[in-house]
Amino acid sequence: MGYAAPSSALHGKRILLGVTGSIAAYKSAVLARELQRRGAIVRVIMTPGAIEFIAPLTLSTLTDHPVYSDFTENKDSGEWTNHVDLGLWGDVFLVAPATANTLSAFVQGSCDNFLQAVHLSSRCPVCVAPAMDLDMFAHQATQSNLATLANRGVGIIEPDSGLLASGLEGKGRMLEPAAIADWLEIWFYERAPLKGKRVLLTAGPTQEPIDSVRFIGNHSSGKMGFALARALVQQGAEVHLISGPVQLNDPAGVASIRRVQTAEEMMIAARENFHTYDIAIATAAVADARPKQRSFTKLHRNELPEVIALEPTPDILAHWGEQKKAHQTVIGFALETDDGVASAMSKLKRKNLDFIVLNSTADRGAGFGTDTNQITIFDPNGKAHKFELKSKTEVAQDIVQHLLNYLTL
Ligand code: CTP
Repeated sequence: MGYAAPSSALHGKRILLGVTGSIAAYKSAVLARELQRRGAIVRVIMTPGAIEFIAPLTLSTLTDHPVYSDFTENKDSGEWTNHVDLGLWGDVFLVAPATANTLSAFVQGSCDNFLQAVHLSSRCPVCVAPAMDLDMFAHQATQSNLATLANRGVGIIEPDSGLLASGLEGKGRMLEPAAIADWLEIWFYERAPLKGKRVLLTAGPTQEPIDSVRFIGNHSSGKMGFALARALVQQGAEVHLISGPVQLNDPAGVASIRRVQTAEEMMIAARENFHTYDIAIATAAVADARPKQRSFTKLHRNELPEVIALEPTPDILAHWGEQKKAHQTVIGFALETDDGVASAMSKLKRKNLDFIVLNSTADRGAGFGTDTNQITIFDPNGKAHKFELKSKTEVAQDIVQHLLNYLTL
């Protein structure tokens, strides 16, 4: 069982980075870079004060996007910058550095500059990383502002102690960019919708031995299942992966991975403590049949049977469907070679599933081995949710989103 480092909870997150007029503004360039390195999409808003400390060009170059600092985008044409749209765009509004003045403006609900307007119109959560001199930070006014903001649900990224720009030493220095990124990762992780959910996931093919060197198998690469494991981890799930033989590294952040070869071995792993899982997802292309007899040595050419008698393998997903309790969600996949709707609906009912994901090799770019997939999800009432051809990473995110919608119904 392998334990890998968690993948970043910042992956794919839209971060509105507000920069205000503190000497620590120079660190915002490194912060923007660090957030992007961890997979976030960053847009920057600066106050007029911040522009005194760091050039907008630095931040626009790093984020490959214009920096917002004014209500008018283009003074000559009078083009307006839509602070409402920006406020809706972000998953979080991170103000780093946040000056004493900006904290006070947030408390008052002031709208004296563009950044403060975005603050008032943002629906996403706000986090602030204060940066100021030790006495300003310790002042009752600042402390009471921070307490008010914390009461409103604003995340406070406590400053560090150390040498300050004033030459004094004490608490008030903005946390280093990497530490802010770490803080934000934990903050997102704590809010992840699948936090505390245990997920059991099968992936890849199985191989059913004929002798010690030959087997019955299929072309499954495991890519869809591994992408799904990553997408589930990103939403905070505790993922336990059971994989057939695949050429893929352990997905980052999974709680455990068991590598198996046969359907029987996969079944043994999949039955274990099934009742302790909240969600079980079968992406594995389990061989439907195995040779009734296998040789433990290599059969030579003249020893090979003309006919290989087969017997069915255990149906893992059907077992889960049978055992399923009210608190559990069981999801299946159906890979078909025709349009597959009738077959997918029959599997959904027969295996007692909460929903089924259909993909058909009849669609270009879908199926085994490819990096893309095109899926349709069927609910038990027959409702179909059809998706475009996408990368397997995006398909996995769509499936997880469907799961989240299903769980909050
Ligand atoms: N499945 C499973 N164990 C098996 C066979 C299938 O867990 N022995 C799961 C697959 O992981 C998938 C779903 O059942 O989620 C449907 O698999 P599929 O091979 O399409 O269907 P089968 O039930 O095998 O039916 P058929 O081969 O007749 O299409």
